[in-house]
Amino acid sequence: MKLTLSVIKADIGGYVGHCSSHPDVLTRAEKNLAAAKKAGTLIDYHVTRCGDDLQLIMTHQKGEENGEIHKLSWDTFLACTDVAKKLKLHGAGQDLLSDAFSGNVKGMGPGVAEMEIEERDAESIVIFMADKTASGAFNLPLYKIFADPFNTVGLVIAGNMHGGFAFEIHDVKEHKKVMLNAPEEIYDMLVFLGAPSRYAVKAVFHRETKDIAAVSSTQRLSMMAGRYVGKDDPVCIVRCQGYFPAVGEVLEPFAGPNIVEGWMRGSHHGPLMPVSVAQSNPTRFDGPPRIIAAGFQLSAGMLVGPNDLFDDPAFDNSRKQANDIADILRRMGPFEPHRLPLEEMEYTTLPQVMKKLKGRLIDLD
Ligand code: F6R
Ligand code: MG
Ligand code: MG
Repeated sequence: MKLTLSVIKADIGGYVGHCSSHPDVLTRAEKNLAAAKKAGTLIDYHVTRCGDDLQLIMTHQKGEENGEIHKLSWDTFLACTDVAKKLKLHGAGQDLLSDAFSGNVKGMGPGVAEMEIEERDAESIVIFMADKTASGAFNLPLYKIFADPFNTVGLVIAGNMHGGFAFEIHDVKEHKKVMLNAPEEIYDMLVFLGAPSRYAVKAVFHRETKDIAAVSSTQRLSMMAGRYVGKDDPVCIVRCQGYFPAVGEVLEPFAGPNIVEGWMRGSHHGPLMPVSVAQSNPTRFDGPPRIIAAGFQLSAGMLVGPNDLFDDPAFDNSRKQANDIADILRRMGPFEPHRLPLEEMEYTTLPQVMKKLKGRLIDLD
C-alpha cells in the first residue's frame, strides 16, 4: 500500500530554559493527533521530543506536502504553544515564525521530513531527531550509511545494494540542488557534503529500484526568518533492511561522535551525542548536541514501536568520547574553532563593539 510518513517538528517552548520539553505539551499534542486519527486524517501517530523539540511522527495516505496534514501540525503547534504560554515555558512558540498559515508549514519555522513509500512486507524505519544542531548534521552519517563500505558492509557483499545510492544535495543558501551517484561520484559529492552549513543531503535513493531510502529536514531557520532565531534541530527518516542498509549499519555512524555546529546559543562546534529519549536533555552549556533514534516497523501504516535504539550500552563509548570532546572544546571558551566563525554565529555583538570603537579603529600605515 502507498503510505506517507511525515515527521514535522518545532520548538514551541523549553523546560527548563532550552533543555527539555514539559510533559503537558506532549500530552496536548497527543490529544490533537488522537482526534485526527479518530477522524481518519491519520492512520497512526507517535508524539515524542528530543530536548526542547516537539516531534510529530504521522502516517497517512495523503502524500507529501499535504495541506491537511500540515495544517494539523500547525494547529497542534499552536495549541501546544498555548500550553507553553500558560506554564510560561521559555521561548513559547519560538519556532512559529508567522501568524498566518498558508497551506504548508515549510518556510514557517517547523522542520519537515516526509516520504511517500510503497510499504514493504517488512518496513523497518529509523527516525533520527537532533537537538542543538543545524540541518547538514546528517551529511556525514548519511554518507557513511549509503556510500562508505567501511561503515556499511552491505554495499560490498549484498547484491541488492552493490549498485549504490544516489544523493540529492541542496545548496541551502543559493536554493539549488544536484543529484550525485555513489560510488562513482563520491569525490565530487564530498566537496559539497564536507560543507554542511551550506550543502545538505535532502534525500537518498536506491539506484536500481529508484526507491527513496532517506529524507532529512533541510530547513534553515535563520534563512527563513532573515535573522538568527535558533538552530534547526533537524530530523531524518531512514528505511532499513532488505535492499537498504541494515538497522545496525544505519546506527553505526553514531558509534563515534561527529562534531557539528550548534550547542550554546547556536554558535559553537560540539560533539553530537547519541542518547535515549530520556537522556535527550542538553544541559551542559546547553548541550552537548543530542541525537535520538526511534525505530519502528510499519504495519499497514501503523507505527509499531518505538524502539529507543540509542538506549543501548553499545553507544556508551560514543557518549564517553562526546563528553571528552566537550571537555576539550570547552577549554577554548569563546575562541574558534569551538566558537563558530563570525558569519555563522546565532548571536553576535560585533556591530555594537565596532560602533563603540569607531574612532579608535585606525588604519595601519
Ligand atoms: C541553542 C539554544 C540555547 C539558547 C540559549 C540562550 O540553539 O537554544 O543555547 O540560545 O539558552 O537562549 P535565550 O536567548 O532564549 O535566553
Ligand atoms: Mg529552544
Ligand atoms: Mg531545540
